[in-house]
Amino acid sequence: MIVGLTYNIKKEQIVKENFNNNISKYINQKILENYPERIDDTYAEWDSIETIETIKNALEEYGNNVLLIEADADAYLKIINNKPEIVFNVAEGFYGASRESQIPSLLEMLNIPFTGSDSITIGICHDKSRCKEILSYYKIPNPNFFIANGKCSFKINNFPKFVKPLHEGSSKGIYNSSVVFNEKELLNEIERIKELYNQPALIEDFIEGKEFTVAMLGNGKNLRVLPIVEINLNEIPEDFNKIYSYEVKWFFDTRENKLDIFKCPADINELTYKEIEKIAKETFLKLRLRDWARIDIRLDKNNIPNIIEVNPLPGILPNPEDNSCFPKAAREAGMDYNQMINAILDEAKKRYNLV
Ligand SMILES: Nc1ncnc2c1ncn2[C@@H]1O[C@H](COP(=O)(O)OP(=O)(O)OP(=O)(O)O)[C@@H](O)[C@H]1O
Ligand SMILES: [Mg+2]
Repeated sequence: MIVGLTYNIKKEQIVKENFNNNISKYINQKILENYPERIDDTYAEWDSIETIETIKNALEEYGNNVLLIEADADAYLKIINNKPEIVFNVAEGFYGASRESQIPSLLEMLNIPFTGSDSITIGICHDKSRCKEILSYYKIPNPNFFIANGKCSFKINNFPKFVKPLHEGSSKGIYNSSVVFNEKELLNEIERIKELYNQPALIEDFIEGKEFTVAMLGNGKNLRVLPIVEINLNEIPEDFNKIYSYEVKWFFDTRENKLDIFKCPADINELTYKEIEKIAKETFLKLRLRDWARIDIRLDKNNIPNIIEVNPLPGILPNPEDNSCFPKAAREAGMDYNQMINAILDEAKKRYNLV
């Protein structure tokens, strides 16, 4: 088949003076000194050239003709001119809260089949509060929350809270300081998110228990839960909060200095394992996710799995030396990278009756 591959490529890490100056007010000084070239998280959600080339090769190995379509302002013309029969979409977009929905919307308008969730579901998941409202409607446990745009005028009593940008992924904007223990820290984080990311903050109850991520593949009755990955929070340095933050993902866990951050399958009893699978499946179906997704979960103090976040376009770093959750779960299920990519394409093809 002629498969379009839509993507955004990570630009050379340009440390913007401005950004660094602003961030230095907020970030741990040791981090700032040790990792100056990695501080700028502007393109954190985008893919490396290595990832895009490996996806391309994987699709070609299975007999497809692949057209590379960078999801920039000319994407519409490139799609019309190249007429792909189906698109493998991993484009994260750049502008606006609905940026992950822009390529899916374009493809819907042109009536071109594509992998993954539709523009509505992707848009909802990229607004973490809208996603949580739907989960709550279906009584799927997730942390209580409120939103604050730059400031917060009412009194908060129960701490700790967790503060994160409303519209980001790849732990962008999530640092050790995201866990707040008093009002001063809370206000500081709300202000940081407004100043550095120009968006409201989502403030949640801090869910302190074990953390998991659940990769899923398929649709409807054929939806598969891949082996559950546990985030090994014990690997996080002692003086840091037990969260899978930007520091942990991108500074502490490197190819040269790899953390043993995943346990797969997760080290939990059968009952909890089944409960996590159940809530992940329910979330997938209620949010009308399609083909593939990854769902982040933590256990609360009563051991109830809570949905932390839903990723309709999960990161898929190809090199096992880079810890990447979806490929890790796929490998554990017996799929190598190329099989995983083509399994996602196959799910989309089945959905469009193209096989
Ligand atoms: N309410 C919470 N309570 C406890 N920990 C949390 C909470 N929300 C987020 N975290 C921690 O912060 C991490 C990043 O949060 P989240 O998954 O929402 O961010 P993200 O940037 O969308 O992640 P991804 O890289 O998966 O796209 C989680 O993996 C978890 O460790
Ligand atoms: Mg996450």
